[in-house]
Amino acid sequence: MIIIKKINELRNELTIRRKAGKRIGLVPTMGYFHEGHLSLMDYARERSDVVVVSLFVNPAQFGPDEDLECYPRDFRQDEQMANERGVDIIFYPDKDEIYPDSFFTYVITEELSKVLCGTSRPIHFRGVTTIVAKLFNIVQPDIAVFGRKDAQQAIIIKKMVADLNFPVEIIVAPIIRESDGLAMSSRNIYLNPEERKQAPIIYQALQKAVEMVQRGELDAGSVEYTIRQQIETVPLARIEYIKIVRERDLSPVKAIEPGTFVAVAVFFGKTRLIDNVVLK
Ligand code: PAF
Repeated sequence: MIIIKKINELRNELTIRRKAGKRIGLVPTMGYFHEGHLSLMDYARERSDVVVVSLFVNPAQFGPDEDLECYPRDFRQDEQMANERGVDIIFYPDKDEIYPDSFFTYVITEELSKVLCGTSRPIHFRGVTTIVAKLFNIVQPDIAVFGRKDAQQAIIIKKMVADLNFPVEIIVAPIIRESDGLAMSSRNIYLNPEERKQAPIIYQALQKAVEMVQRGELDAGSVEYTIRQQIETVPLARIEYIKIVRERDLSPVKAIEPGTFVAVAVFFGKTRLIDNVVLK
């Protein structure tokens, strides 16, 4: 595995491999790897010849009061985990390599960025689409792999790719969960022991919603109410949103129909956790 910090070096390296007929797979990350990231690397490995993992804590997707400064970082551990997983190249640029002085151009996927997480994080998806568009231009991958935990992010990136004609196939890999159901996230490390103990209520509530729909409940309001009630059984949970929306355009539904999923954001202390499940 090689570590590359400069865009030109990465481009030169990938040109050689592309000329040799190799298929390039990209896994964009912000590091601090867990099993979820490793599964994305596996997806890329199975579908491409050269696996590039980008590791960049992207300042443009953090709001002014968010956790950019304390976002967990451990490059040595990430390097070892990626190496063991068979990654070929880690692209690990400095901030100035990606955002030099006088950086003025952003990519915005208008309507989809304003709902769900976009309501409380107004610049977040602009930062995500901008860095992902830059990575697509830098790496020019055949495929790129994202996790379903960030369902809104994956839907927005697919839309950006379609709208801007990026020649890349987007693969969305399933959520990887802890044994008690909590969706894996680098931010889970912020939870104190009591918060960590209560956090699996999110998945339990989502599972209850799936069961309700399987039993024939199609009223989105009732399903949402049950999820809320369930999550509120633990004292430390503070719900930001519970939304039942269409996969296609994130618009809310009244009656649950095929292509509907429920997305939630819940605070435990200062830690904001997100999760989602497909309902139908
Ligand atoms: O999902 C993430 O880790 C980030 O949002 C991404 C896609 C790497 C962009 O910084």
